[in-house]
Amino acid sequence: MTDAVSYLRRQFPDVNTTEAVALMGCHSLGQLHPEISGFSGQWDRVPVDIDNGYFRNMLSSGWTLTPVENDIVDSSQWFRSGRHFAMLHADMTLYKDYTLFEDGNINCARDSCPNSNTASTVMNFGRQANLFVQAAATAFGKMINTGL
Ligand code: HEM
Repeated sequence: MTDAVSYLRRQFPDVNTTEAVALMGCHSLGQLHPEISGFSGQWDRVPVDIDNGYFRNMLSSGWTLTPVENDIVDSSQWFRSGRHFAMLHADMTLYKDYTLFEDGNINCARDSCPNSNTASTVMNFGRQANLFVQAAATAFGKMINTGL
């Protein structure tokens, strides 16, 4: 289980692994702001729509690991199409299984890293938007009802 999935499942115990992956697909909305998180870029083509573009983009090739060093963060992030499209490690590890070192490097080259155990869910969501939308709706309902 990736760090993001296990974190979300701890926070929202009714959410299963598939649904936790769907929650991360909420990064289909919005973007990264250098002045807020220190990271930059957007996760998919249309940041104002929630759709499966996050997963389709993640499954695409051409991602480059790029050092990010500023007042807020000293790590790395993924870019594609120049610095337009972005993924955080919390995103990319849904698909690829790698170890992030303190210096921001990882232990394999993205395309040759093994698939993570949620990669098949990423592929299903990338191929079938309706699967993502249904799982995201269920998961979001569970998330906002947690603790009630
Ligand atoms: C648990 C793993 C997660 C991590 C590490 C993470 C991290 C981040 C970071 C660093 C940003 C960029 C903030 C900025 O620069 O403005 C961001 C933005 C955002 N996150 Fe997450 N996030 C996670 C999960 C989620 C989940 C589960 C949701 C919703 C269900 C979500 C929804 C959003 C949205 C909508 C934005 C865009 C905000 C904007 O455009 O201003 N994130 N996230």
